[in-house]
Amino acid sequence: MKLLILGSDGFIGYHLTSSIIQDERFSQWSIVGVDANKTRTNLLPKSSLFQYVKLDITKDRNAIDQLILDADIVMPLVAIATPKVYVERPMDVFELDFEENLRIIKFCHQHKRRVIFPSTSEVYGKSVAPFDEGSSDLTYGPIQYSRWIYACSKQLLDRVVFALNQKAPFEFTLFRPFNWMGPYLDSLESSSEGSSRLITQLISDAMLNKEVILVDGGHQKRCFTDVRDGVTALKEILLNTQLSNGKIFNIGNPWNEFSVREVALKVIDRLQSAQMVEGDVKLLVKSSADFYGAGYQDVTSRVPNITNIASAFGWSPKYSFEDSLDNILSTLKSN
Ligand code: UGA
Repeated sequence: MKLLILGSDGFIGYHLTSSIIQDERFSQWSIVGVDANKTRTNLLPKSSLFQYVKLDITKDRNAIDQLILDADIVMPLVAIATPKVYVERPMDVFELDFEENLRIIKFCHQHKRRVIFPSTSEVYGKSVAPFDEGSSDLTYGPIQYSRWIYACSKQLLDRVVFALNQKAPFEFTLFRPFNWMGPYLDSLESSSEGSSRLITQLISDAMLNKEVILVDGGHQKRCFTDVRDGVTALKEILLNTQLSNGKIFNIGNPWNEFSVREVALKVIDRLQSAQMVEGDVKLLVKSSADFYGAGYQDVTSRVPNITNIASAFGWSPKYSFEDSLDNILSTLKSN
């Protein structure tokens, strides 16, 4: 089986590739990883199953099309997924996350390639949790809140995939990650205010500035999912076409729900015990408008219903928040 991962150097692409090339069930597969960058790719274990191709999906369209034609399964993982960018550069989010991926999905559909596409937990927006793939409403704020352009782009792509399938059936699965965390989530060095996702931002701010920021007081909650659990679910999807075809799967850990404030305290505590931070770390409350800009709105709770993926593959998340945090910190320490 030939798998093409577009965005293989990203957080999910890297962890998935790393896990596949070490998993015997994939020993007859070949994986082509496409990315404009090669930062995380350099950390992969050596494997004859994996080939890296340096291409940019926004520029090298003909070469990407040829790789799609050479593949059996395509995972288009290239996207901006950082809230600060949704607010500051909404048009970039639309052009990359929606337009470029639309082109790729339509090409895959036209040539009947199997597509495994990342939707997002954000599609549920401000609906009432727990979120169910088949029955939850998808509810966003008014247009001046550009934060929602990401959720809207992803939601419309989900709908396009279903509409294409209605027009002429093809094999596809949509998956919705819920705050996956693990080593190399974002770069610590580039985590200027708000430019990274929560866990990276907290670690970086605590280590570099001795203070962390709780946006709007930090009462909002998320369910944090270890990337190792996430990747286990993705591999089940890859290996089981029939059980996953035409489905949407939430992939999250409903038992790891914590407020941002609770997470900040856990991160500080672990950093102090690992002697990665000395002395006190301050908790600073900032308004979301000051932290992200006026186009930001938040989600107060985001809990997945995971019945679908549990009943398809017997999957359930194994790692506690503390396990995941320790894994991130020990990787950071060893580097
Ligand atoms: C983001 C993406 O938009 C989602 O698409 C993606 O699924 C999700 O991350 C993910 O990682 O899976 P969000 O959870 O809102 O969604 O993003 P984070 O940057 O991780 O922020 C989580 C919460 O922490 C937000 O309420 C934010 O305001 C808060 N925050 C963030 C702080 O209080 N302090 C900080 O320093 C950073």
